[in-house]
Amino acid sequence: MASSSSFSAARLLLVAAALVLLQLASSDSEAAPPLPSGLSFDFYKSSCPQAESIVSSFLQDAIRRDIGLAAALLRVHFHDCFVQGCDGSVLLDKTRAGQSSEKDAPPNVTLRPTAFNAINAVRAIFDALPPPTSNVTTLLRFLAKIGLDADDLVSLSGAHTLGIAHCTSFQERLFPEDDPTMNKWFAGQLKLTCPRLNTDNTTANDIRTPDAFDNKYYVDLMNRQGLFTSDQDLHTDARTKPIVTRFAVDQSAFFQQFVKSMVKMGQIQVLTGAKGQIRRDCAVPNAARADDDLPWSVVQTVVEAAESTVL
Ligand SMILES: *[C@@H]1O[C@H](CO)[C@@H](O)[C@H](O)[C@H]1NC(C)=O
Ligand SMILES: *[C@@H]1O[C@H](CO)[C@@H](O)[C@H](O)[C@H]1NC(C)=O
Ligand SMILES: *[C@@H]1O[C@H](CO)[C@@H](O)[C@H](O)[C@H]1NC(C)=O
Repeated sequence: MASSSSFSAARLLLVAAALVLLQLASSDSEAAPPLPSGLSFDFYKSSCPQAESIVSSFLQDAIRRDIGLAAALLRVHFHDCFVQGCDGSVLLDKTRAGQSSEKDAPPNVTLRPTAFNAINAVRAIFDALPPPTSNVTTLLRFLAKIGLDADDLVSLSGAHTLGIAHCTSFQERLFPEDDPTMNKWFAGQLKLTCPRLNTDNTTANDIRTPDAFDNKYYVDLMNRQGLFTSDQDLHTDARTKPIVTRFAVDQSAFFQQFVKSMVKMGQIQVLTGAKGQIRRDCAVPNAARADDDLPWSVVQTVVEAAESTVL
């Protein structure tokens, strides 16, 4: 979610391993060891509050498809940490100059490639999503890579007409002082919900009509009552401001563009014909099911048993 430099592979590996371990320990919170200074269990709490849940749901899905992955990931963590500490070095490929890598060292070659692939895949999810602290320049640059434009950015952001947000995902606009682009009354209301840093509370994305799918989100923005920087900047930036205004005064213009942009988004890198498949069970690729040598019910029982232990 954050930029690649701030979400390192080594940290990701730690998040994955910590999730597995913390879940095991959750019945007894005092089982967690003391932390040395410089480390924390909630490093991404404000920069990417969903980090743990994204990794967790990705792993649940990946392990459901391949139960061996659970053991493989645990093994990677052992191999990384027992050799010169947990630095993610075991993830490094051999350099082009021929410098060897931990991955290729004899005891390490038995580490399963699927584990490395899973780590890279979940890492890519974080690269793929700009955080809600992003400005329009960052958002447009990101969308351009996947064929979406300013109309798409503004209309898809309109999905914030629904839903709630955690204090930690917009608190940098309230502390240490109010973001000057934010309406003073609105900032005061938010501080009732989020009185201090890292308050565990939520608020509606759209202060006017939180449960209605309408164009009031754009009216919020015109009144400087957008929750995230990525919302409010749509009304600050000259490239997107006219679109915000258009949607604020013309709900059907928003609806039409939203439909168009949702369809466009649904076509990003979509697999067609023989390249893709229509899954019989949404959670499992058809081929994986067909290749199982065990009857599905047995596999499922094993997976469920494993999940209740590790996840
Ligand atoms: C893995 O590779 C590193 C670096 O080459 C090496 O020091 C280590 O002994 C290898 N084995 C394990 C179990 O990590
Ligand atoms: C937008 O955000 C990026 C990344 O944080 C920053 O480098 C850039 O200066 C910002 N642009 C504007 C116009 O604020
Ligand atoms: C959470 O938000 C509600 C509604 O704004 C507020 O009444 C409550 O005091 C907040 N809770 C905390 C822990 O700040």
